[in-house]
Amino acid sequence: MNTKTAERELQRIFKNVPSAFGNSWFETLLDHSRRLSEPLAARMLSQMGLGKATSKPFKLFDNACGSGPVPSELHRLIPPAVLAQSSILCGDFSEQMVQMVQKRAESEAWTNVEAKVIDAQNNGLATASFTHVATNIGFHCVPDSKAALDEAIRILEPGGILGFTTWNREPSWAAELDGAFETFPFQVPPRESTLQATGWGDWGDVNWVREALVERGLEDVRVEVFAQLSRVDSVEHFISSFTMSLNWIMSSVWSEQLRNEHGQEEVHGLIKKYLERKYQGRPWELTWVSIVATGRVAGQ
Ligand SMILES: C[S@@+](CC[C@H](N)C(=O)[O-])C[C@H]1O[C@@H](n2cnc3c(N)ncnc32)[C@H](O)[C@@H]1O
Repeated sequence: MNTKTAERELQRIFKNVPSAFGNSWFETLLDHSRRLSEPLAARMLSQMGLGKATSKPFKLFDNACGSGPVPSELHRLIPPAVLAQSSILCGDFSEQMVQMVQKRAESEAWTNVEAKVIDAQNNGLATASFTHVATNIGFHCVPDSKAALDEAIRILEPGGILGFTTWNREPSWAAELDGAFETFPFQVPPRESTLQATGWGDWGDVNWVREALVERGLEDVRVEVFAQLSRVDSVEHFISSFTMSLNWIMSSVWSEQLRNEHGQEEVHGLIKKYLERKYQGRPWELTWVSIVATGRVAGQ
């Protein structure tokens, strides 16, 4: 996949989430958050030193917050008395994501959570003003990911903790789509890696990630790999969950002519047919392997 096209298309999709997921986008993203992003966020937060044993109030920025897995996990894990003295700022460049976090904050009665439209590449937040900055599955899809990483570090106070996750291996939804594409009655152009949609860096490589943090003067750098499964209940569940990913591949790699000749309905039907034959009505698991990276800003 041409990185520039993939980058542009993904940004367009994130900025208009209903266009990719349809009217039930909120429920679809919430389901995705619960099955996948929240367990991953919990793993990242634990490596950042945040969990059930946290007793010191914190000021955390959740960068590229999406549907809000980070505040959700913080509320599940951190003692309420500590949360009451802490603050969580969630930022995303997509207004719909920000609205989703605001809705969840209200309906799930989150404490001291604010959500705002914030571009990770130029966040406008005060230097050295947070104790923790978390970016769950975010840097690999920000166009200027170098600026985003530098900005995340800039806003940490001395001794502050940076934590983030990226994909280390392609999640298996991509292989499922490849398997389906091979059975299509027309030629589908080859797909390139979905690991990153940013020109800078090598976010799927543990050694590159470690070096990027060490080079920036972070201390106690820890780079781990975390594998998890997520359950797919049915073929329909797979289609609704990965419509956005499919749209991304189609708009990045397929020609306009191919997209016009074979619309979404036909493509969904062909994928369904392939998966129905493969799983015979049974639920199945997808695999996800992430890099979990943390480091501490010098000082204190
Ligand atoms: C793969 S999603 C991850 C969302 C969430 N952190 C999670 O764990 O589910 C990536 C997020 O990055 C956001 N994003 C992309 N480019 C951004 C930018 N320049 N500034 C802020 N957020 C951005 C998207 O809107 C999307 O919500």
